[in-house]
Amino acid sequence: MKPFVYVTKPIPKEVEEMLAEHCTYDIWTSRERIPRRVLLENIKEAEGLLTSGTKIDRELLCSAPKLKIVSNNSVGYDNFDIEAMRERSVIGTHTPHVLDDTVADLAFGLILSSARRIAELDRYVREGKWTKSEDDESLFGTDVHHQTLGIIGMGRIGEKVAKRAAFGFDMDVLYYSRSRKPEAEKKTGAVYTDFNELLQRSDFIVLITPLTKDTFHLIGEREFRQMKQSAVFINISRGQTVDEKALINALKDGWIKGAGLDVFEKEPIETDNQLLSLPNATLVPHIGSSTRITHVNMLKTAVKNLIDGLQGKQPRDVVKELKEGGR
Ligand code: DGY
Repeated sequence: MKPFVYVTKPIPKEVEEMLAEHCTYDIWTSRERIPRRVLLENIKEAEGLLTSGTKIDRELLCSAPKLKIVSNNSVGYDNFDIEAMRERSVIGTHTPHVLDDTVADLAFGLILSSARRIAELDRYVREGKWTKSEDDESLFGTDVHHQTLGIIGMGRIGEKVAKRAAFGFDMDVLYYSRSRKPEAEKKTGAVYTDFNELLQRSDFIVLITPLTKDTFHLIGEREFRQMKQSAVFINISRGQTVDEKALINALKDGWIKGAGLDVFEKEPIETDNQLLSLPNATLVPHIGSSTRITHVNMLKTAVKNLIDGLQGKQPRDVVKELKEGGR
């Protein structure tokens, strides 16, 4: 008998077909997020769960006694309660590799938009304010090329950002990571730097670290105050890696020049969030991996992981903490 899988978001036809070959399944087809209560009800018989962002905690695991695998359709897996999954021997997988270039592209989009004020000046044109000549200083931005980029979290995506910076924009690249990355250094010329030194020397700072208990509010007032007043801060990791109140103060009071943000402490962003009224913040709705081709490739990866897990094979992308001997 085919195992039963629950899918928490709509998926494209070709992905559904892949799933149908090996599983019976039910899909939450609304674009609205599935209410927790409905989810817990719907996964009672599930052996597999295909999801992204759903909190996988003891409550959920108790509601799904047959669950063998949770396949996350994202590279980040801060939604996993690793201890609870370990206790229940539930496999957890994610989708690394397939989205690296797409997320790195967005990081650069945010760098360029923040430096040259593209989103802000787009609004200026649309609002009919373009009455000055383009050499008016109030329209000036800052250069990206030949500046110094600091990357916090030199994983696969960090390396792709470094490559774009070094070879596309002639930037000097500094990085800080839990461990040194000799391969990335060799490929991109990035230089490993102490955390505080990176904050002080960089013109652009890109945060790409995973969210863990160690990186919660990694960047707060102390860190913003160390940055150059001309610095631009980009966050493409998770909103909770940054103390958003401190970021708002940094932008309002000129501790830094600007920010480009794909992620927020509360998503979707609340309508009274002060970031919405700050012209020196470029905001996008968590779209790091959101291109059609990457979306489908991520889902295919996630479904492959799911099927392998259900068939008793070792899926390729088990998260490192849940691998044999992993911590
Ligand atoms: C992920 O997949 O975790 C990222 O949020 C992509 O933007």
